Amino acid sequence: MNERQISVVVIGAGNRANKYLEYVIQNRQKVKLVGVVEPVDLRRERVAEEFNLAPSNCFTCYEQFFAAKIQADAVFICTPEDKHFEPCMMAIDAGYNVLLEKPIAQSLDECEQIRQAANRRGVVVAVCHILRYHPYFQKIKQIVDSGSLGQIISINHTAEINLDRMMHSYVRGIFSNEQSSNPLLVAKCCHDIDFLLWLCSSRCKRVSSFGSLNWFKEKNAPLGSSARCVACKVESNCPYSAVDLYRNRKEWIANFNVPSGGCLEDVIEQELLSGRYGRCVFRCENDVVDHQVVNLEMEDGVTMSIAVNAFTRDDCRRTHIKLTNGEIDGDERSLRVRHFRNGEDYVLDYSHLEGQPFHAGADLNIVDAFLQAISSRGEGFCSDIADAIESHVVCFNAERSRREGVTVDINWD
Ligand SMILES: NC(=O)c1ccc[n+]([C@@H]2O[C@H](COP(=O)([O-])OP(=O)(O)OC[C@H]3O[C@@H](n4cnc5c(N)ncnc54)[C@H](O)[C@@H]3O)[C@@H](O)[C@H]2O)c1
Repeated sequence: MNERQISVVVIGAGNRANKYLEYVIQNRQKVKLVGVVEPVDLRRERVAEEFNLAPSNCFTCYEQFFAAKIQADAVFICTPEDKHFEPCMMAIDAGYNVLLEKPIAQSLDECEQIRQAANRRGVVVAVCHILRYHPYFQKIKQIVDSGSLGQIISINHTAEINLDRMMHSYVRGIFSNEQSSNPLLVAKCCHDIDFLLWLCSSRCKRVSSFGSLNWFKEKNAPLGSSARCVACKVESNCPYSAVDLYRNRKEWIANFNVPSGGCLEDVIEQELLSGRYGRCVFRCENDVVDHQVVNLEMEDGVTMSIAVNAFTRDDCRRTHIKLTNGEIDGDERSLRVRHFRNGEDYVLDYSHLEGQPFHAGADLNIVDAFLQAISSRGEGFCSDIADAIESHVVCFNAERSRREGVTVDINWD
């Protein structure tokens, strides 16, 4: 229990911010929202109304907010990926603690600048690697750390992105372009790499990677297709149809903004007619890969292979850890643990967590841990910038390997 109520300001009141604000709603005695920064009127006004914020504490851009010098303990930075570095540096400079959405920034140099600035200023910068706060992934960590299965020899891990998620986020959506977001491995799989590194007791020594944007480009557009699915002659047979995804199946529509007095159906139709989400997947301005593999060699000899799949209905992470005395094999729904010698073999069922809101509570757990870290000046917090940066070192070097066709020796100095 925190001794005093902690005050926070949210910067970027979109999808992710709403998850963290749910914690604030549920824990008003512990934490108080005192300001919002959000350029979209509808979103900013919703937050202002929910938290009864004075107009003087509501801002359309972070430059205005930092100039106003609002009294607060922390900021939640939940902006798009090309707008992490600048507000984070400004927040650190102003002495705010920061809950920073992943990925940290758009280059290793920026990540390192944030780490050093946080160190100098003595503030907590927490990176939202939420798998560390998720019961299933925590269980794997607990089993590995218990030592009952010996030491890790190798890991095979697959990030199954799911085709609908891929199309919505990485082909049509806001993470489809490296310039405005990040390479897919950084944007999506810094989580996976962070989790895998968390399990290991040494750092990554070498990394190599292959992958490309193979399919979602114009030369693969079917004959007779057109720029928008609503007008497309081959739409009814297309597995990537926006009409099917948003109008028929009503998937991935939670973040479409419905103006007050409006209705979701009209917003969907408008999006299909003229929005980014109505576009043909073969004619978007996407440049992030649609498949990738990564290999790691750790300093203690552990090896890992990581595959990123988008052409699948699955939406999960599969992890198979081979240890000296047993193995752990899971897909987020179940976790099988086998001991080599004593025959002990059990399966833990996590299927009840599937589809649970807030990443099965992890989004709320991380805010709780962050607030405690502020109270205890960072002690005991497990995903601060110093830890989180390791995954980014690996991801950005994997990207270098993929682009340059080389195996990269990682220099930790
Ligand atoms: N931790 C996780 O599991 C997880 C999951 C999904 C996304 N993310 C990350 O969260 C971040 C945000 O993603 P999202 O899905 O919430 O996006 P989003 O588009 O729903 O929200 C971003 C918000 O920032 C606002 N914004 C844009 N420019 C701004 C500015 N200059 N100042 C203030 N606000 C500004 C946008 O209007 C929008 O409301 C990204 O970095 C993304 O990679 C993390």
